[in-house]
Amino acid sequence: MNKITIAIDGFSSTGKSTIAKQLANYLGYVYVDSGAMYRAVTLYAMREDFINDNSFNVEGLVSRLEEVAISFLFNETLGFAEVYLNGENVEASIRTLEVSSFVSKVAAVTEVRKKLVSIQKQLGKDKGVVMDGRDIGTVVFPDAELKLFMTASAQTRAERRYLELLERGDKVVYENVLKNVQERDYLDSTRKDSPLVKAEDAIEIDNSHLSLKEQFDKVLNIVNKVLEDK
Ligand code: CDP
Repeated sequence: MNKITIAIDGFSSTGKSTIAKQLANYLGYVYVDSGAMYRAVTLYAMREDFINDNSFNVEGLVSRLEEVAISFLFNETLGFAEVYLNGENVEASIRTLEVSSFVSKVAAVTEVRKKLVSIQKQLGKDKGVVMDGRDIGTVVFPDAELKLFMTASAQTRAERRYLELLERGDKVVYENVLKNVQERDYLDSTRKDSPLVKAEDAIEIDNSHLSLKEQFDKVLNIVNKVLEDK
């Protein structure tokens, strides 16, 4: 059967990666977490002190972008590809609330986007890919056969992310997680370059009141229709 491209966009913590991983496993497609790439560049910027609570040296970061290598390596045990920054597995280090607090600023830099979008296009050039992010259906794969746009209330999303972080052993305060979710929603949808918007031809899924199984069944129905029509 001909493979398709599935683009999943949406606000922070809407469960994009959960449904993307499920679909990729089910279809035997490659899953690409584009947010992990922005997070890895952010981690690099933090380590080199280009960004901190008081300042962001955009020129400094841009001048060193060439030496930032982002790649993915499939982890058999986990069943998905983990992200590497200059050969180091940074999958765990990029999920902290600290990285989340800087990532939307780094992701607004055009040079950063150019670099990562070009890698993303390359990763999806043979189709058979499920990619999630903010601009996948609008910029990275505007011709994707299926585009989903995930939404849920900010409260629901912050609760999900809060529980995720606690489970990982991060000592976080719920109010700070909610604040970060709301801040990123704002920055991601108002930035000049590739803002988060629903593509005209995207199907919106509000999963505030859907269980994981209900969500998967609903999306699978949509996927099967697209595959049948091909
Ligand atoms: O999983 P979560 O919703 O927390 O976010 P993510 O997918 O890991 O993305 C982290 C951040 O990267 C977002 O808040 C955006 O600022 C940025 N991003 C982006 O600008 N474009 C993408 N295609 C993916 C992520």
